[in-house]
Amino acid sequence: MSYESFDLHEMSPACGGIIEGIDLSKDLTNRQFDEIHEALLERTVIVFRDQDITPDQQVAFARRFGEPQPSAVSGFEKSKDNPEIDILEYDASNPPHVTRDLWHTDFVGTERPTMGTVLYAKDIPPQGGDTVWVNMVAAYEALSDRMRAHVDGLWAYHDSYQPYSEFVRPEMYTADKGTDYIRDKRAQYVPALHPVVRVHPVTGKKGLFVNESMTSFIKDMDRRESDFLLRYLFDYLRTPEFNYRHKWQTNDLAVWDNRLSLHYALFDYTDHRLMHRIVIQGDVPHE
Ligand SMILES: [Fe+2]
Repeated sequence: MSYESFDLHEMSPACGGIIEGIDLSKDLTNRQFDEIHEALLERTVIVFRDQDITPDQQVAFARRFGEPQPSAVSGFEKSKDNPEIDILEYDASNPPHVTRDLWHTDFVGTERPTMGTVLYAKDIPPQGGDTVWVNMVAAYEALSDRMRAHVDGLWAYHDSYQPYSEFVRPEMYTADKGTDYIRDKRAQYVPALHPVVRVHPVTGKKGLFVNESMTSFIKDMDRRESDFLLRYLFDYLRTPEFNYRHKWQTNDLAVWDNRLSLHYALFDYTDHRLMHRIVIQGDVPHE
């Protein structure tokens, strides 16, 4: 599809688009924003290169997609003047999580997973630190008719505690915090129940909605059936044809649609990497 307000370079058949001809430090017209929104729906993730914007401008741009998620929900340090912004900063003295990332959808362990994310690259290491996204509509549509019929109508539990438990992330549970801390953390993460095949609220397209990081059990299945099917789907979703891998440049600003996508942040660098993240509130997933 072509747009009047900018050039869109499609980065892989499944997803990913680089937009040229938009300066986010300037006010956007409604026409420009409508086309940006359209490009996001078409490509799942869009990237604007060479953007020189302030935190206020990033917040203003993010707000055009929806309300930022209350900052208390995420565990990242916040920008002092703009509490909507999470500061994602790593270097050799504070390396990315040693557990590696897992494929995930942001905040999927909540009743309302986020609509999307606006991520601004402030400083990027010379190599490493790429992000990979998966288009879950493409993945769903590539299943066989028989497998689509099998997964349609299923519901699954998403447990945010799984990637943040005392076993997976012991550094978050130091002895001085005591056993109540673990119990309180566990109580915070009540698993959310979502459809395995989600209908996108704007496009009406169907896509898979499970991820290896948090999807823990398929409702009404035998435990072995659930484990078997989820393992199959997690493996299937690693198919390279469904993804786009982005090599960041400083001053890239990416927006992705979190409603039918997965992403994976590579933790393969030790040089300084600084990102400013804003997540947008989403709605209750429907089948
Ligand atoms: Fe994420």
